[in-house]
Amino acid sequence: MINIPRGTQDILPGETKKWQFIESRLEELMKLYNYQEIRTPIFESTDLFARGVGDSTDVVQKEMYNFKDKGDRDLTLRPEGTAAVVRSYIEKKMQGQANQPVKLYYVGPMFRYERKQKGRYRQFTQFGVEAIGSEDPSIDAEVLAMVVHIYESFGLKNLKLVINSIGDIDSRQEYNQALVEHFEPVIDDFCQDCQSRLHTNPMRILDCKVDRDKEAVKTAPRITDYLNEESQAYYNQVKAHLDDLNIRYEEDPNLVRGLDYYTHTAFELMIDDPDYDGAITTLCGGGRYNGLLQLLDGPDQTGIGFALSIERLLMALEQEGIELVEEDPLDLFVVTMGDDADRYAVRLLNDLRKQGISVDKDYLNRKIKAQMKQADRLNARYTVVIGDQELEQQRIAIKDMQSGESEDIALDQIAEFFTK
Ligand code: HAM
Repeated sequence: MINIPRGTQDILPGETKKWQFIESRLEELMKLYNYQEIRTPIFESTDLFARGVGDSTDVVQKEMYNFKDKGDRDLTLRPEGTAAVVRSYIEKKMQGQANQPVKLYYVGPMFRYERKQKGRYRQFTQFGVEAIGSEDPSIDAEVLAMVVHIYESFGLKNLKLVINSIGDIDSRQEYNQALVEHFEPVIDDFCQDCQSRLHTNPMRILDCKVDRDKEAVKTAPRITDYLNEESQAYYNQVKAHLDDLNIRYEEDPNLVRGLDYYTHTAFELMIDDPDYDGAITTLCGGGRYNGLLQLLDGPDQTGIGFALSIERLLMALEQEGIELVEEDPLDLFVVTMGDDADRYAVRLLNDLRKQGISVDKDYLNRKIKAQMKQADRLNARYTVVIGDQELEQQRIAIKDMQSGESEDIALDQIAEFFTK
């Protein structure tokens, strides 16, 4: 037997209904905020992520599914959506479009070779949003409001929005220098990853899973003390908008995010429940990326966005006991007696389906009683039994499965029965 690859999952009927429900709810919300869908390839040039996401990040160093195609090109299964959307924005010259900023959303599989645990998969489905072409704090606020709105619209309550500013590139440079000076004397006590991060990406030491409880992490300099005037002013304006919108948030100066392109606003939406029985509490993450477009040889434009995985959203819903989808009953089950009736039923089903009625029949030559059981299992709202007599008289009894009552109608009036 060949098994499913580690870290992936089959989403079976029943579960897929929940996914469809979530995806269509997200689409409806996107209309309210005027974001439009973009679809980019599942694989891209490896360079895009190496440059965009950052050579020294865990994603690029350890987690990418890289391969060569038969033309010897270096390709990667996308580990995230932002770099690809920005690539498309640049390539399709979207800065020239009349409607600015360009507000986009996407849904699709992402791939990261990560250690499997609850809420962490090697193939997962991100829903993400990118607003490109504005550097106005009110668009940051719009994106943050949207994140909260999304989760609340599914009925989730135990949530907290955590925000930070990691400043502009100048602020970050000064801050990185301070971090290097702070960690250098004690770096030998840190894990191998942190030791190599010290000079390439010192901010990542702050959210290392291995070293997070070390004293030096707790006493490390804070980015908020290194924000220059402009960065501080931007951050204050974003927070003022959040206050106007009555959006509650916590500030965490150690929230640095795992991808290199972030500047200014960074945020995560987390589960706020001490009894939560999953190791992972981050449901969604994002932030502003002011340097990314130019880094990818694009125009002088900036963006902000976030992504969430549907897997973790489902996990949170399950934890709070929220049922998403109601039973979706079949309109009609046609029970047949004999070959003529069965042959007639094939045509009948075909006609009814074209008139928008969901209908099914037996395909296993079951006895009547077993066919009735099947109708029950499928949760059919109505059943009819067709035999020689019904064919001859061209009349049938249509039975309401809930009340048990039957109504006598003409065989060719079933569709009318449903429309009435
Ligand atoms: P990220 O924090 O790497 O950011 O991922 C965003 C979200 O994707 C996470 O909060 C989580 O819900 C989900 N996720 C990530 N890895 C996994 C996994 N292995 N299994 C299940 N879910 C996962 C980004 O990807 C950025 N592109 C977000 C962004 C958009 N920033 C700006 N625009």
